[in-house]
Amino acid sequence: MKKLMRALAGERQDIPPVWLMRQAGRYLPEYRATREKAGDFLSLCYTPELAAEVTLQPIRRYGFDAAILFADILLVPQALGADLTFVKGEGPRLSTVTTEADFARLGPAADVHATTAPIYETLRILRDALPADVARIGFAGAPWTVATYMIAGRGTPDQAPAHKLKDENRPLFEALMQRITEATIEYLSAQVDAGAEVIKLFDSWAGSLSAEDFDTYALEPARAIIGELKRRHPGLPVIAFPREAGARFKGFGPATGADCVALDTAVDLDWAAREVQSEVCVQGNLDPALMVEGGPRLAARTREIRDAFAGGPHVFNLGHGITPDADPDHVHIMLDALRGS
Ligand code: CP3
Repeated sequence: MKKLMRALAGERQDIPPVWLMRQAGRYLPEYRATREKAGDFLSLCYTPELAAEVTLQPIRRYGFDAAILFADILLVPQALGADLTFVKGEGPRLSTVTTEADFARLGPAADVHATTAPIYETLRILRDALPADVARIGFAGAPWTVATYMIAGRGTPDQAPAHKLKDENRPLFEALMQRITEATIEYLSAQVDAGAEVIKLFDSWAGSLSAEDFDTYALEPARAIIGELKRRHPGLPVIAFPREAGARFKGFGPATGADCVALDTAVDLDWAAREVQSEVCVQGNLDPALMVEGGPRLAARTREIRDAFAGGPHVFNLGHGITPDADPDHVHIMLDALRGS
């Protein structure tokens, strides 16, 4: 079995499998060259040969144990009918959903494939092009995180527009959450049909939900999506990332059916080993800033994380995505520390 699958099945390994969030990205010169060729970011996502190429680049350079499909969590809103553009240096811009009329313009969940068909083609290319021991990860955003972008029309530091809609027009907010949930199930299920072997659900803004809202809008949608995916694809492993969930990382795996819970940088290692890794496989949680800094602190922290999680199933990764200013050579410092003594 592939190293990643063994960890997700609950196996402890002396050297854990490793991959990095945003491992295909702007810190790599070869990514920047391919992106230049594609024109803009969305053209890169929707050109299967080029999306497969950038997925493969970090595998060639570093020999990671897993390749994550090159796409974006905002393709689901686009497939539901939102206008989406990426403004250079500013991030994503979407048409907003704040009224019943906006919501009425969205398409049904079953129609997403018309837009996302090229994404499935990327996965079919990867099925043949990746080395046999590298696991293929498909992904989507979790409904709350995707809703925060659809409601605000952009990234927001505190997700205030989404909280406002939730508090002022809960039926509309919940209808939107439901539509995203259904679309995400269709999209992820088609990714599995096209060759994804593992699914990861990114809830980047889960940490901004109150304890009560967390159960309703982070935990419950994850449970619904994971449950339906596993019903359609028995044995499918799923990684959940309720970022900045704090104490609520504990219990998240058992409550949602996720096989692995990805931890952000803020999580204490000993607490997580005791309280979370005793329930499910854990993934994480190196600070991406250390990939910018490099040097002995990067090597030391890598070994510290490996050793803290040495007693159970662990997937080595960052606590959040690698940043464009990371030095590609620093990844080797981490790999040498992880795989060496
Ligand atoms: O290598 C991989 O991890 C696979 C591809 C991937 C991308 N985005 C490519 C991307 C994945 C898994 C994502 C997830 C994603 N996208 C999340 C969840 C994870 C997280 O980081 O919290 C979110 C919130 C998004 C939405 C998004 N996409 C934003 C806010 C931005 C703009 C900010 C930025 O980093 O530029 C993007 C753009 C994006 N998605 C890039 C990449 C490689 C950069 C685009 C470029 O090349 O200019």
